[in-house]
Amino acid sequence: MTVKKSYFAILLTLYFYSCTQQEPIVFKETGGEKYRPLYHLTPESGWMNDPNGLIYLDGEYHLFYQHYPDSTVWGPMHWGHAVSRDLVTWEHLPIALYPDSLGYIFSGSAVFDAENSSGLGSPDNPPMVAIFTHHNAEEANTSSLTYQYQSLAFSLDKGRTWEKYEGNPVLPNPGIRDFRDPKVSQITKADGTKSWLMTLAVLDHINFYSSSDLKSWTLMGEFGKNVGAHGGVWECPDLLPFKTPAGEDKWVLLVSINPGGPQKGSATQYFIGDFENGQFTPDDTMIRWLDYGPDNYAGVTWSNLPAEQNRTLFVGWMSNWLYGNVVPTEAWRSAMTVPRELSLFDVDGTLLLKSAPAKELESLRAAEYDLNQQISALPSEATELIAEVNSDTFTLTLANELGEKVVISKENGLVSIDRRNAGKSDFNSDFAAIHSAPMSWEANEIRLFLDASSVELFVNNGELVMTSILFPTSPWKTLEVSEMLTSVEIFKLEK
Ligand code: FRU
Repeated sequence: MTVKKSYFAILLTLYFYSCTQQEPIVFKETGGEKYRPLYHLTPESGWMNDPNGLIYLDGEYHLFYQHYPDSTVWGPMHWGHAVSRDLVTWEHLPIALYPDSLGYIFSGSAVFDAENSSGLGSPDNPPMVAIFTHHNAEEANTSSLTYQYQSLAFSLDKGRTWEKYEGNPVLPNPGIRDFRDPKVSQITKADGTKSWLMTLAVLDHINFYSSSDLKSWTLMGEFGKNVGAHGGVWECPDLLPFKTPAGEDKWVLLVSINPGGPQKGSATQYFIGDFENGQFTPDDTMIRWLDYGPDNYAGVTWSNLPAEQNRTLFVGWMSNWLYGNVVPTEAWRSAMTVPRELSLFDVDGTLLLKSAPAKELESLRAAEYDLNQQISALPSEATELIAEVNSDTFTLTLANELGEKVVISKENGLVSIDRRNAGKSDFNSDFAAIHSAPMSWEANEIRLFLDASSVELFVNNGELVMTSILFPTSPWKTLEVSEMLTSVEIFKLEK
C-alpha cells in the first residue's frame, strides 16, 4: 500500500533493543554470511573485479568476471562465470578461462559469431567468441613495454567449455604498456555488410580496430588524448549506439578511469558524439560521469540482446581500486551493481546518459510495507524504497542501534550520500566520506536499492545515480525521511 500523506519525520523504530538488554545482538545476515548481498552477484569465494564477456544467448545472460579463486585479493586473473535467466538469480558455472603461458586473462568481451566468420565453429554450430587481454605478468616485471596483447577463446557449447585460439595473440602490442580491455561489437553498414569493431583502451586514449573475422585487426582511428578526464589510466571502454529523445542517432563511448574519478579512485566517464569509419567525434568537451558514487567501475554492456528487448543493458563492478582489496568481507570480495538500462535524456539542451534499474528487479518485490503499520524491523537487508520528492530538498537517513548511519540528501543542487559514520571504515582512510554530485535540475522521485553491503540511489529513474558500498556493524534498522519525501513505498526483496 502506498502512503499518500506526508510526514515531518517518519521515524520507524524498527528493531527494538532496550538499553538494558544484555544479550548479544544477533545480526540478521542475508544468506547467513555477513555483508553477502542477496540479489547482487558475488563470487562464491575468492576475488572478483570487472564484469567481462557480457553476452546474451538462448535465454541466458552470461556474466564472466575478473576472478582470482585462490585468494580474496587480486592475483592471477581468470574469467569466472555465472548465468542468469532473469538478471536477479545467478547460477555459478565453472571457471571459463584460466591463465596460460601467454599470461593472465584480463578484461574483455564476448560476441556470438552467428555466421562463423572466424571459422572457430561451423555454420551449424557457430561459436561464442571471447576477446580478452593476455597480461604477461613475468614480462610486466621487466622493462618490456609489450606484455599486454589481445587474444581469443571460443566455446561451442553456450559458454560451458572454452578453447583458446591457437593463433593467439590476434592483436600484438605495438609498444605501449597499457593496451587492454577489448570490447567487440558487430557493426552493420547501410548496405547490409557486417564487420567487427574493437574498442580498446590504450593508456590515455581509445583505439578503434576493424575486422572481418575476429582474427586480424586493422587500426581505424583513435580518440581521447586531449579530451575528457585524464587523472588516471583509461580502461574498459564500450561504444554504444543510441537514439536521442529527438530521434537522432548518437554514439556513447564509456571509458573507465583509475584514478581520477569524481570521488577519488575509480569511476566511469562517457562521451556523446558521432562515430563513423573508426572516427569518434564528441559533441562537446564536457566531462560526464556515468555514476557519481564511489563504487561503480569498469562497467560495460551485454552483447547479442534480442532486438525486441530494445535496450542497452549495463552492469559495473561495485567497488573502487582505492579499497577494493581490503573491504571487510571474508570468504569473497566484491559484488556487481544491479543491472541497469542505459538511455539518453536531455536537460535544457544538454544530452546526458541515464541508468535506470533493469525492470527485472521488480520481480524481487516480495511484500510492501505500509509506513502507518507497526512493523518490527526494516523488512530485510534487501529492501527497495521508492518515494516522490515534492520539493527539491530532501533527507533520508538509515541508521542502526549502534548510532551508525548513512544519510542521503539533496540540498542546494547537490545530491549526496554521506557514509562518514556508516560502520566499518578503518580499512582505508578515504572510505568514510561524504560524496556529492551536482544536479541542477529538479529531483522528482528517488529509488533506493539496499542490500547487505550497498546502497544504489537512482534519482528520477536514473537521471542521476550514486552507488556506494557500506559496512554497517549491524544491519540498518530505522529509516527517517523528511517531509519532502511523499508516497513512500518500501518493498522487502526476496528471491
Ligand atoms: C580494470 C582493470 C582492467 C584490467 C583488469 C585486471 O579494473 O584494471 O584494465 O583488464 O582490471 O584485473
